[in-house]
Amino acid sequence: MLDRGAPSAPPHDRTTPVPPSVGARLMRRKPVERLVAEGGQGEGGTLRRSLGLWQLTMISIGATLGTGIFVVLGQAVPKAGPAVTLSFVIAGLTALFSALSYAELAGTIPVSGSSYSYAYATMGELIAWVCGWCLLLEYGVSVAAVAVGWGEYLNELLKGTIGVTLPAALSEPPGDGGVFNLPALIVVLLAMVFLMGGAKESARANTVMVCVKIASLVLFCAIGVQGFRSGNYAHFMPLGMGGVSAAGATLFFSYIGFDAASTAGEEAKDAQRDLPRAIMLSLVIVTALYVLVAAVAVGAKPWRQFTDSEAALAQIMREVTGQSFWGTLLAACAVVAIASVVLTVLYGQTRILFAMSRDGLVPKVFSRVHPKTGAPRANTVIVSLFCGVLAAAVPLGQLADATSIGTLFAFALVNVAVVVLRRTRPGMRRTFRVPLSPLLPAIGFVLCVWMMGSLSAVTWVVFGIWMAVGLVFYFGYGYRRSRLAAPSEK
Ligand code: ALA
Repeated sequence: MLDRGAPSAPPHDRTTPVPPSVGARLMRRKPVERLVAEGGQGEGGTLRRSLGLWQLTMISIGATLGTGIFVVLGQAVPKAGPAVTLSFVIAGLTALFSALSYAELAGTIPVSGSSYSYAYATMGELIAWVCGWCLLLEYGVSVAAVAVGWGEYLNELLKGTIGVTLPAALSEPPGDGGVFNLPALIVVLLAMVFLMGGAKESARANTVMVCVKIASLVLFCAIGVQGFRSGNYAHFMPLGMGGVSAAGATLFFSYIGFDAASTAGEEAKDAQRDLPRAIMLSLVIVTALYVLVAAVAVGAKPWRQFTDSEAALAQIMREVTGQSFWGTLLAACAVVAIASVVLTVLYGQTRILFAMSRDGLVPKVFSRVHPKTGAPRANTVIVSLFCGVLAAAVPLGQLADATSIGTLFAFALVNVAVVVLRRTRPGMRRTFRVPLSPLLPAIGFVLCVWMMGSLSAVTWVVFGIWMAVGLVFYFGYGYRRSRLAAPSEK
């Protein structure tokens, strides 16, 4: 029966809904429940849940331990002297505070999009997009930078085994004295082949490679310690605290990747339980190895003799033993080690784009899943070709430095997201809680901003241009195509 007493709504309320304002659209948030409910679902298939705690930890270690210790250490020692060990601790602490926040959010919102999805649930679509665009720096561009480092160790290996190195024309991009960096392209394509087989197969290959890299660093310590001279520590901090923190900012690169497990949320068997553990476990293992290796390296070789070499650890092995065999063996292990960074970081990039595509912010092709392997194959091919060509043909220069700034920005946002979610959804089930929140996330945030501040002005300009390009993409594509914008999807 019609309630004649009730005032009838004006006609336009029923027929013409008032469109949300631009501000409201930019702030639209994706409910956590919806993020989790959509887990695994792609176009034409679903991702497979096949990864346990061990594999997830290996993914994070795989993505973290690589060029930072094998290549960047040699560049950091001249900045800090023996106190480079302290620089590793400082960079590790910066990573630790953010890792705590990642662990809480990964256990609460166990999806593939990592910090992009956490930002979508807490700070709205525009910030989520900005975060996703930063992750493209952290993952996509850093894969290219790491692939270049792989080529350098490959040359070292070739020199040690068959006595030849690849000519610059085939191992450097144009602008850096070459034509094409072939090894960089090859390692990315190899990783692509593994990823096409599915997450489980890739994780298996990664686990083997991680074991090789940990074993090689332990071997380095065992041999390097025989050349240890306490005199090399006589002036622990020759360039003062300024040098230590400058080296710390450089070495932050070596911690990038501990969050990679958080991109596997939709392929983990028990994501809520295992993701926080994998993130924290990998960070502890990696930090311990870094400090140990750095302490042995500067103990075995006077810091002034570190000459920005790309293969510092292999050289130390050679010098301590007097035999080229050990240096060559270490170069071989580094080739395996760095390949696993390429594999896992590439994996992370494909999964982040998978999540963004499902949300409509990037084209649908990125969330298409192969029915047999459960892998987003088209996504993997596109991302691999993009990263491979970037590594092979573009002198990365400042863009590689920009990976750190982009990563720090994403980490800073995660520290904010954890506090926001505690306020907006205090009752949610959390399998891991950051102790002393909001104090520790606040410290994490400040450390990230401080580290960003210590990067060069040129890096900031590159970052600014990168973000501007990202915003053009967002307003040209995602803003309209977002699934949250489609009335039928609400
Ligand atoms: N942390 C990674 C590496 O050092 C990016 O290679």
